[in-house]
Amino acid sequence: MIAALIHSMVVCPDMEKTYPKISHGEGSYLYDESGKRYLDASSGSAAVSNIGHGNAAIADILKDQALKASVLPTHAFSASVVENYLEKLVRFAPKGFKRAWTVTSGTEAVENAIKIALQYQQMTGRDKKHKVVSRWFSYHGNSIFTLDVGGMRFRRKMYEQWMHNFPHISPAYQYRNGDGMSEEDYCDQCINEFLEVIQKNDPDTIAAYIAEPVVGAALGAVPPPKDYFKRIKEICEAYDILFISDEVMTGFGRLGTPFGIEKFDVIPDIIAAGKGISGGYFPLSAVLIHNRIASVFESQMTTFKAGHTFACNPMGAAVGNYVLDFIEARNILANVNEQGALLRERLNELKTLDIVGDIRGEGLLLGIELVSDKLTKEPFPANKDVSKRIFLNALERGVILYPGKGSADGINGDHILVCPPLSINKEEVEFLANTIRESIVLVQEELHQLIL
Ligand SMILES: Cc1ncc(COP(=O)(O)O)c(C=O)c1O
Repeated sequence: MIAALIHSMVVCPDMEKTYPKISHGEGSYLYDESGKRYLDASSGSAAVSNIGHGNAAIADILKDQALKASVLPTHAFSASVVENYLEKLVRFAPKGFKRAWTVTSGTEAVENAIKIALQYQQMTGRDKKHKVVSRWFSYHGNSIFTLDVGGMRFRRKMYEQWMHNFPHISPAYQYRNGDGMSEEDYCDQCINEFLEVIQKNDPDTIAAYIAEPVVGAALGAVPPPKDYFKRIKEICEAYDILFISDEVMTGFGRLGTPFGIEKFDVIPDIIAAGKGISGGYFPLSAVLIHNRIASVFESQMTTFKAGHTFACNPMGAAVGNYVLDFIEARNILANVNEQGALLRERLNELKTLDIVGDIRGEGLLLGIELVSDKLTKEPFPANKDVSKRIFLNALERGVILYPGKGSADGINGDHILVCPPLSINKEEVEFLANTIRESIVLVQEELHQLIL
């Protein structure tokens, strides 16, 4: 019993439950030990397995690199595998990006991105600039620092004493916050709020702004109003605030562009990336910086003051290199646009169901918000576990979804994130869409019975 508990503690957060064990994966599918097959529409947890499961070529690459050198004494050496990868990574980034290096998790990438912004501000003589403006309902990582920068109230709760060091603005989530307004008016409202927060805090104290191009797991694939990011970027430039794009979920083709922010015609100053960067085959993440920032470090001959044991790891570089080749060779961006459009079309059909309030997202990062009343957008009470019910029902039918809660007020509000591997094909999309419909219809009936 104790061994089982420890085991479930290690593997899964929910200790009351025995999880089926996965034996292996292939392409878009995972197989449990009984042989049951699941279409992995959460791509690991979540939006990681962009290139699918069970890729034999990566297994060979990992083996080859492990035999050559698995880690470097980076205080004294570099390696071609790392340098070639970093150059390729920078070429994959938007125009003007100059430098990159890797760490091992999204949390580390975000924290490093912010530290670079802070160091840059100090190096350019703006010593007072130390605050980061972020958005409520966003997730930027699970260290105490990144939880504070992020805006997920229930995750922050336990660490309240260490929170509230940074200003937050609303999440640009029109479905919940801009009812009855035109998209333009709602965008104006969000932009004015940003300007007010800058003034209230004193522009000389604001170092950076950080956002997910499309809010991922925290809200269930919420893009901002058109032109929102362009206008935010203009304001950032006016006040010497660096724009950090948290691409941990949206990078590496997830939205149909190399990085998600490109979908909104913005070139950020710093990018934090993770998850799909390695497709899940190695713990890898990265920070990429624009020449505007890199040139200051170069001209002052100053290094970025950070160090992590597994930074610029050669195994990670070898895997990351393969992922970039895969994206190009398999035409992944085109596939995301094609299959994403098809999946979106099929999910849009769900809008006629009583409990489906909103369908949204970009590329293959799509979301479904569930409500008890479509007109008033009243959420289901949290204890009804609506998104979890749909998730469990779909699991029975062989599809893994990513359920989420709190989208209405931080506690109540159910959503489902749909983010299959980017190599998904048309037949799999059809199966996925049909299964989601069947599961929602069934849960809708169940809820109806509960109310009656
Ligand atoms: C947008 C975003 N930023 C940061 C993180 C943190 O990444 P990690 O879990 O790899 O530390 C996540 C993880 O879900 C994320 O979605």
